[in-house]
Amino acid sequence: MATLRSECSLEMDCPKEVVIWNYYDHEHVVGTHYKHYNFLRILAEKEGWCLVERFYKLPIIQLRTSSLGFMFLENPNLIRSIQYGKLGIIFDQEIHLQDLGPDRCKVTSIYKMKVWGIFMIFQGLFQKVTTKWFMNTWDEDAPMRIRRWKVWKLGFRNFEGIEYINHRTTKPDESARSSYPLQLPVPKTPERPPGSGYRRLFSKSVEVGY
Ligand SMILES: [Fe+2]
Repeated sequence: MATLRSECSLEMDCPKEVVIWNYYDHEHVVGTHYKHYNFLRILAEKEGWCLVERFYKLPIIQLRTSSLGFMFLENPNLIRSIQYGKLGIIFDQEIHLQDLGPDRCKVTSIYKMKVWGIFMIFQGLFQKVTTKWFMNTWDEDAPMRIRRWKVWKLGFRNFEGIEYINHRTTKPDESARSSYPLQLPVPKTPERPPGSGYRRLFSKSVEVGY
């Protein structure tokens, strides 16, 4: 067997914990990434790990497919995501996270897929598809991550909003909060009915910008 491999890396203006929150926030997958995903179902989830079925379309080759993925936090600087796809394909993703300061981190995604030696002819295509995927989803995630970090510093809490705005009190000092506390699993809207998964609500949208 041989291994198709690709590596992508970019920097983001938030702590690495916000990036981890984003990876474990399943609901955004069919919202923020509506162009790529149309359905997901969380089969099991505990602090730091989850087993999720996802349905999506790959860029460039335009292939609609699905996979069953196990994602876990191997250590505070590494998320592993192992996805079992169609035809027994195993797609192994490592997401390395490195803090570059209180408001900046580096994310390196390494994609690997074991194949029969003859399929190494697809190395170039594998690199193109995974790089396009990384760049597209990065551009969609970036405003959300940066906004999350900004509102957290202003006192935002899930399902409660921003306290100083709700109660018309003094605006807190943003610089007073220098870290993002990671709480997994990420709180989510209950499925209706339970176990039915999260479906994409729209396939076209107006990009309003940020
Ligand atoms: Fe995302």
